[in-house]
Amino acid sequence: MLRSPRPRRPVADLPPAAGAPTGQGLARSIRLFRLFLREQTEPDLFYSGLAADAADQLAGYTELAGRTVVDVGGGAGHFTAAFRSRGADCYLFEPDQAELLSRGSTPAGAIVADGYWLPVADGSADICFSSNVLEHVADPAGLIEEMIRATKPGGVIYLSFTNWYSPWGGHEMSPWHLLGAGFAARRYLRRYGREPKHALGRNLFRVHVGPILRLMRGRADIELLDALPRYYPRWCKVVLWVPVLRELATWNLLLIVRRTT
Ligand SMILES: C[S@@+](CC[C@H](N)C(=O)[O-])C[C@H]1O[C@@H](n2cnc3c(N)ncnc32)[C@H](O)[C@@H]1O
Repeated sequence: MLRSPRPRRPVADLPPAAGAPTGQGLARSIRLFRLFLREQTEPDLFYSGLAADAADQLAGYTELAGRTVVDVGGGAGHFTAAFRSRGADCYLFEPDQAELLSRGSTPAGAIVADGYWLPVADGSADICFSSNVLEHVADPAGLIEEMIRATKPGGVIYLSFTNWYSPWGGHEMSPWHLLGAGFAARRYLRRYGREPKHALGRNLFRVHVGPILRLMRGRADIELLDALPRYYPRWCKVVLWVPVLRELATWNLLLIVRRTT
């Protein structure tokens, strides 16, 4: 439910604009949390801030300027814009035209394409990027396979997703999905008088931290450079060592991967 607008802190208090470095400590997490509170009322501000943060994170592992970046499921193009502002040649692939048009016009150079079948040659990307797409596909392993195919040996993959048992795993139905997806959907309909945007099994799928970590660690053609809860301070990565806790507390898993062969 939308609330009436309240006085807001100035934008200057929010995450630094694209191009400004951010740390990976508690202050960053607090900034991101405050940004999340503005997702519904100021989506552009929210997504631009998140995209700037992701670009900063990625820049900790690889050079961005002059690199070819493939943005898989890039939505309205905020992430592509953040990479371009750092000098990358970024290509946005997005299957949903409504998402592409959600800011009024299609982002420059965007291509309508499915992440399972990226229209790029093998090994053409220096960086293959996907933010919050994996939980929206029926075959996460297939999407990962395709991202690896598109990345050149030595290239880097940024893969992040909201896992099902995360407090936000049910998206707009959260946290009621933890009591069952059917219950959460019915509750949403009752409360808001409309169907939720996401339906389990149609455009939202149960993706878990443990199986994805095992899948990535089990592949011989990639090296897992880092695994961490995306929005938390770096030291919180210890959460990922604890099997049940990591499903409940990770919120959003970020994997940084290098393709080796
Ligand atoms: C939650 S949005 C994330 C958008 C953007 N990456 C971000 O982080 O804000 C999920 C996106 O995944 C896209 N998507 C769903 N299925 C896909 C697929 N098979 N291949 C590529 N993208 C897909 C959706 O259209 C949508 O734009």
